[in-house]
Amino acid sequence: MPLPVPVPPEGVDPAWLPPAAFRAVGSRRTLIRGSGPLVETVHGEVDDACRRFGGRVVRDASDDGPYDLVLGLGADGPELLGEEGFTSAREGGTTTVTASGGRGLLYGLFHVVRLGEAAFTGGPSRRTHHPALALRMLDHWDNVAVHPVMGQVERGYAGGSLFWRDGRARGDLDRVRAYGRLLAACGINAISVNNVNVHATEARLLTDRVGEVAAVAEALRPYGVRTHLSVSFAAPVLLGGLSTADPLDGAVRSWWAEATRRVYEAIPDFGGYVVKADSEGQPGPFAYGRSHAEGANLLAAALEPFGGTVHWRAFVYDHRQDWRDRTTDRARAAYDHFVPLDGEFAANAVLQVKHGPMDFQVREPVSPLIGAVPRTRLAVELQATQEYTGQQRHVCWLGPMWSEVLRFRHEDGTSVGESARGGLVAVANVGDDPFWTGHPLAQANLYTFGRLAWQPDAEPRAVLDEWISLSFPDAPTRLADGLHAVLDGSWRTYEKYTAPLGVGFMVQPGHHYGPSVDGYEYSPWGTYHFADRDGIGVDRSVASGTGFAGQYGTPWAGRYESPDTCPDELLLFFHHVPYGHVLKSGKTVIQHIYDTHFEGVEEVEEALSVWALLAGLVDPARHGRVAERYEEQLRSAREWRDQVNSYFFRKSGVPDGRGRLIH
Ligand code: GCU
Repeated sequence: MPLPVPVPPEGVDPAWLPPAAFRAVGSRRTLIRGSGPLVETVHGEVDDACRRFGGRVVRDASDDGPYDLVLGLGADGPELLGEEGFTSAREGGTTTVTASGGRGLLYGLFHVVRLGEAAFTGGPSRRTHHPALALRMLDHWDNVAVHPVMGQVERGYAGGSLFWRDGRARGDLDRVRAYGRLLAACGINAISVNNVNVHATEARLLTDRVGEVAAVAEALRPYGVRTHLSVSFAAPVLLGGLSTADPLDGAVRSWWAEATRRVYEAIPDFGGYVVKADSEGQPGPFAYGRSHAEGANLLAAALEPFGGTVHWRAFVYDHRQDWRDRTTDRARAAYDHFVPLDGEFAANAVLQVKHGPMDFQVREPVSPLIGAVPRTRLAVELQATQEYTGQQRHVCWLGPMWSEVLRFRHEDGTSVGESARGGLVAVANVGDDPFWTGHPLAQANLYTFGRLAWQPDAEPRAVLDEWISLSFPDAPTRLADGLHAVLDGSWRTYEKYTAPLGVGFMVQPGHHYGPSVDGYEYSPWGTYHFADRDGIGVDRSVASGTGFAGQYGTPWAGRYESPDTCPDELLLFFHHVPYGHVLKSGKTVIQHIYDTHFEGVEEVEEALSVWALLAGLVDPARHGRVAERYEEQLRSAREWRDQVNSYFFRKSGVPDGRGRLIH
């Protein structure tokens, strides 16, 4: 039986799957071959499209058609295609998608949907498609119970959680089903359903409340999305009544084995655990004098009989640092902790590393840990939720930044995308907001993440084109051009009016929105810029600084070591320089700060007026929501400009070379 297409509740935006995106498929004659639950999903999709657009769908017919589209499971080199790959071919007027697994067929269908009419034209062709990365995952930082400081979703800017409300599971699984469908359409195949900071209520999802997780897993399964859970390392103590969570203790090991067996009883295709240990106050193996490999391997052993994976986060650093202590460098921490453990992690343990050494700033170098643990399965973590990039009140399309990260090559020539053998993960940016992402244009970040996880070397602008043509199927060129105009450069615009030259932070403490140049300067968090009357930046060189630059191989260690060879955009991440230091651009650092802050605001003004001209081409609700947020973005960008420029003018005493007003 074809599975009915999940319909999101009334008023919820269809995002990149509006009915019209299926016009080309829905107006054709389609044959579907094969059996299995995901084939029913595919059948349901095509059936639904045909009802709208007058096409016809047949199942397992023995006749030869003619058909415009054949979607089938088949033995088309299964060993080559895997569970998720597919071939697409065009021959004699028929487009054929063949996959050896249900997920492959589903991804093949969405491939055809993306191509639209182009899937049904052109001469003979044949192509094989595979995801480059087997795991393409979103981590939800969702709390089950509302946290007194962080709310329902930690760093969430899109309303409440899709899964939880006020301490319990939400009833409306239709929304979750529709979510799974959106995820499959951009290639995402896994999510974790709760915050990495596991509070008391959330901890119980592992044990007596696992049924609530099972319900989410069931809703997502028809679209090939597996469910994972964040767990507390202290669970044996918190939930099991044991006196220790020591990873080498026999009772602790049995407790995890039994708890995990029960999870699989409830969720047979459960993906595994996500763990934040010894990080920002979360419990971990250090309390027992054990290493993080011993900690991770404890959970890996419990998951191993069921084929599950533990995602062990590498975000381990001293968050109680004394700002007076110039020898401790938070940027060094992940590498210092984990490189010595390379080779010690179990085969089903994945080390999950944030893409930069600090914390999702608008500009950071690539984490040196990513290239330094060849004997460890590694997942790279990005942040789709815009904690430090405008909190979904500012337009900031992250495709170009992620693409730069994924294409970055470490010493051995391997790119970050290739190193991420354990998968690509993003912190989710969705919630129960009618537009899913708060800012309607932030949907592009979610879509882009999925597609880059499928193909890390994809051209981000081409991915944005896909998102535009799916989301706005009847868009005139003027709309597509307008969307590119406001999105393409938005990350660089955001960078211009916020913290300069890779220095990072300068945000308001706690919630991290808006400027506060010294907000974290005297804090314990290890995030300093060291601005004084003469200069600014953190000396991370080997010669005179914290030595962080030496964590890279060639050529990067050498390039980052000297201010002469360090790329401008990372200069203040690696060096403390005088305001008069001349950048490769020919400008002094201080003039660069002034210029970029004026330019950044001008670019927001420009984008806002481009958006205004698109009224009438975008539905009024969406247009209005974006226009409203642009007002806030402009206000905030001006605040950033004026605070940052005034701060550095007052520190340095150097006037703006162009005589503009600085307060
Ligand atoms: C950031 C963020 C926290 C989050 C942490 C993490 O520090 O502000 O809210 O818990 O990252 O990645 O674990």
